[in-house]
Amino acid sequence: MSRFSARTDFPRTWNPLARALAERRARGLPVLDLTETNPTRVGLPAPRPELLAHPGALDYAPEPQGMLSAREAVAAHLSTRGARVSPEHLVLSASTSESYGWLFKLLCEPGDNVLVPAPSYPLFEYLTRLEGVETRPYRLPRAHGFGLDVEAVAAAKNERTRAVLVVNPGNPTGHYLHQGELEALSTLCAQEGLALVSDEVFSDFAWDEEPGRVATVAGRAPPMLTFSLSGLSKVVGLPGLKLGWTHVGGPEALRDEALARLELVADTYLSVNTPVQLALPGLLAHTRRFQAALLARVKENRRLLREARPRNAPWDMVPAHGGWSTVLRIPLEPGEEAMCLELLDAGVVVQPGYFYDLIGGAFLVLSLLPPPDVFAAALEPLVRVLATSG
Ligand SMILES: Cc1ncc(COP(=O)(O)O)c(C=O)c1O
Repeated sequence: MSRFSARTDFPRTWNPLARALAERRARGLPVLDLTETNPTRVGLPAPRPELLAHPGALDYAPEPQGMLSAREAVAAHLSTRGARVSPEHLVLSASTSESYGWLFKLLCEPGDNVLVPAPSYPLFEYLTRLEGVETRPYRLPRAHGFGLDVEAVAAAKNERTRAVLVVNPGNPTGHYLHQGELEALSTLCAQEGLALVSDEVFSDFAWDEEPGRVATVAGRAPPMLTFSLSGLSKVVGLPGLKLGWTHVGGPEALRDEALARLELVADTYLSVNTPVQLALPGLLAHTRRFQAALLARVKENRRLLREARPRNAPWDMVPAHGGWSTVLRIPLEPGEEAMCLELLDAGVVVQPGYFYDLIGGAFLVLSLLPPPDVFAAALEPLVRVLATSG
C-alpha cells in the first residue's frame, strides 16, 4: 500500500441524507430537488454555444495572467458594477476555487492559517487543507443578520494568520458587506498585515436596495492587499466553461509584488483555455439577460414560499438580501437531519443547516433556483411536514 498525504485524507463516507436520497432514486421514486444550484439545469437562458467556436480558438499564445482582451472584458464588466479597475490588475484562472488555491500558495507557508466566516460555504476546508493551510473560523452572528462582526474576526486571529476571507454576500445567508464593516475590517487587516480575500461570486444577485452595501472591494484604494474573486460560474451561470478572475488591489508596491508572484503561479499551470478567453466578451454580454432571468426566478420562488407559509407556522425564512438560496429557521425538534429525512420521505430534498456550519438553532437551506413548478410542487409537502415539527 502506498502512502498518501494527510492533505488528501478526507472522510469519504456518505452522510445519512445522501444515502437515503440515493436509495430513493434507486427505487425510482420521484424527488423534488430544492438543493439544485446548477444554473445549467434549471431552464435559465444560456448564450449561444457557437460563441466558443472563435476562429482563433485552437491557436496557443499563452499569457499567464490571461489574454489582455479577456481581462479587458472583465474590467468592462466590473466597471458596470461601479469598480474602475485596470486589466493589468486582473489574473484569470479556471475557477474561483483555483484562484483560492493560488492565493493560499501566494500568502501562506504550510501551517499558516486564514480566517473563514462561519456559517459559510463548505469548500474552504478542502481548498485550504489541500494547500497545507489551516482555517480558523470567525462567527457571523445571527443577531446581526449573519453580518460581519470585526471583533469576532480580530479574536479569531493568531500569529500565523495571513488573510481574512469574506463571502459577499454570504452563502447561504445572503448578507452583504456594508461600508462600515469594510472600513473596520480594512483597519484591522492593515494593522495586522493581513490580506483580504473577498469572494464576490454572488454579488450581482441583490434582491433589494440597501444603503451602504459594498458590491465589490475592487477599484478602491485599500490600505492592505485585497483580492476580489468572481467568475463565469455564477455571473453568467456557466460553471462548465471554467473561467474565474481575481482583481488585486492594495498599496502599490505590495500590489505589484503580489501580481508578479501570482503571474508566476499562473504561469506554472496556464490553466485557462483559449476558446473561453476569446469568447469572454460575448459571454459577458449575456450577463444582463441571464441575471434578469435568475433574479426573477429567485424572487418568484421566495414569493411562493412566503405565501405558502401559514400564519403561526413554527418556521420562518431568515431575512437576507441576495444570493441563490434561502435559509429557514425551524424548531429544534426533531433536529435538522431527521427533518431532512422526513422531508425526503415526502419527496422533497433540502439541506440541513449544519452543512454550512449554521449553529444557534435548527435550520434548513433551500435553493431558490428550481423552476417555479418544481418549487411550488415541493411547498405543499414542505409546509405539511414542517407543521408537525417542534
Ligand atoms: C461562495 C462561493 N465561492 C466560490 C464558489 C466556486 O465557484 P467556482 O465554480 O468559480 O470555483 C462557489 C460555488 O458554489 C461558492 O458558492
